[in-house]
Amino acid sequence: MALAVVPFTVGHLDAAADLYVAVFNAAPWHDRWTATTARPRLADTLATPGALGFALLEGDLLGFVLGFAEPWFDGAHFYLKEMCVQSDRQRTGLGTCLLLHLEQALREQRIERAYLLTAHEGPAQAFYAKHGYYTSSKMRVMARRLDPSDR
Ligand SMILES: CC(C)(COP(=O)(O)OP(=O)(O)OC[C@H]1O[C@@H](n2cnc3c(N)ncnc32)[C@H](O)[C@@H]1OP(=O)(O)O)[C@@H](O)C(=O)NCCC(=O)NCCS
Repeated sequence: MALAVVPFTVGHLDAAADLYVAVFNAAPWHDRWTATTARPRLADTLATPGALGFALLEGDLLGFVLGFAEPWFDGAHFYLKEMCVQSDRQRTGLGTCLLLHLEQALREQRIERAYLLTAHEGPAQAFYAKHGYYTSSKMRVMARRLDPSDR
């Protein structure tokens, strides 16, 4: 069956949630997603203003990329929020295919910057670096744990 890259729509959410669970519960992430937790995460991203994504199909869903454009003072920036490829089809060029489709669509919308979060020194970092993404020297991700018993 031929590969096809199509715009990501609501109709892809169920298959995308199943794929997300399978990919991110496996190495190197070892998350604990279920379809019940993954689907609303993806649905919320898709429902965000400026949402844009692509699904890679070969009959079944093999991968997807999804994020949204955010207004910025000099135009819009794109937050690439989710991306994954079926585990047994990784490193065969499918992620590259999805990313290039996304970037072309962003260029057509005159969006000049994309950014994302990923694990430090993880395999995904190598993938994005190969495609020209760099670690920002200006920005830091900051986080805080909130213990419900603290005031
Ligand atoms: C990251 C991901 C989307 C890349 O898609 P892909 O189809 O596997 O990547 P491609 O085959 O198009 O590109 C492969 C290149 O990316 C890099 N890369 C991808 N996976 C890698 C890995 N596990 N280890 C090292 N480099 C890796 C390499 O440069 C590789 O080139 P090479 O195979 O010639 O060495 C996919 O591997 C994936 O879904 N990973 C698990 C989920 C994930 O981490 N998503 C991103 C979260 S931010």
